[in-house]
Amino acid sequence: MPNEILYTSVNAQTKLLCLLGNPISHSFSPPVMNALISIYNLNFCYLAFAPNDLKKAIEGLKEINFLGANITIPFKEKILPLCDSINQFVEEIKAINTIWFDGEKLRGYNTDIDGIRSALTDYIDQIGSYAVFGAGGAARALCVALKNKNGILVNRTEAKGKKLAEEFGLEYISLTDSPKIVPDIDLIVNATPVGMAGQTVSTIVPTSWIKKCTFVFDMVYNPSVTKLVEQAIEYHKNVISGVKMFLSQAAKAFSTWTSLEPDLEIMRSIWREITN
Ligand SMILES: NC(=O)c1ccc[n+]([C@@H]2O[C@H](COP(=O)([O-])OP(=O)(O)OC[C@H]3O[C@@H](n4cnc5c(N)ncnc54)[C@H](OP(=O)(O)O)[C@@H]3O)[C@@H](O)[C@H]2O)c1
Repeated sequence: MPNEILYTSVNAQTKLLCLLGNPISHSFSPPVMNALISIYNLNFCYLAFAPNDLKKAIEGLKEINFLGANITIPFKEKILPLCDSINQFVEEIKAINTIWFDGEKLRGYNTDIDGIRSALTDYIDQIGSYAVFGAGGAARALCVALKNKNGILVNRTEAKGKKLAEEFGLEYISLTDSPKIVPDIDLIVNATPVGMAGQTVSTIVPTSWIKKCTFVFDMVYNPSVTKLVEQAIEYHKNVISGVKMFLSQAAKAFSTWTSLEPDLEIMRSIWREITN
């Protein structure tokens, strides 16, 4: 018995979208995007691929008329030189998570920053200072979103941490030194994979830091309640969810390809359905 949805809706006119990354098996993007496609009754299909050679993969997608793709680790930076145009944030963040094949042109976007802004929107006026753990693409997107606020950057690898901290005028503290100090900051952000399902270390944020701050934002969204979130709840802090960031960046990517703008309620109902 064929899958009913595919059997009734996929045909020679179906527009194709996908995720490119490696690994991709853990990703929630295919079910979320296909749920949106179904809600809006579009003749689209969203798949996932883990190519070895990104350039060849992009050429292949272009040749067979893909409409667009999401880009994840390890290709977020590598995709940059392959694009013909980039949006205003990509230049600052230096990473792309969404591409659109606009005729002959490949256009690159970063919707993580939209996700971050949406996640922080209710609190942004109350955040004077922040501490970010991590110095990768997600940390960089956060620094762009919180530009001109004071902050601290904590990272495992000193050279990478210092470089990003310097670029955004932040104080650098090494991960090993972090438990020795208790900074007076409003918001703590985990922009590392620590806490994700399958990781051996459950949190790297010192408890003393959590006790002192007001807001805790864990970008990890699987599980939705991480060890860091558990601790933040225990100390009665305002928790900002990685799920909200994930759903908002996905909604923005979908809108890049379709011009439709799913609201957060639609995204949340999809999430509930998928995670139940
Ligand atoms: N909610 C969302 O929509 C969303 C979107 C994007 C990302 N994220 C989350 O953000 C995380 C980071 O993404 P990214 O794109 O910035 O990744 P990335 O570019 O690979 O950077 C990862 C950062 O985490 C640090 N790190 C990795 N493992 C660590 C460990 N065991 N202990 C301490 N530090 C560690 C790395 O430190 P070194 O410099 O020392 O290697 C690096 O600074 C992802 O894993 C994901 O959980 C969430």
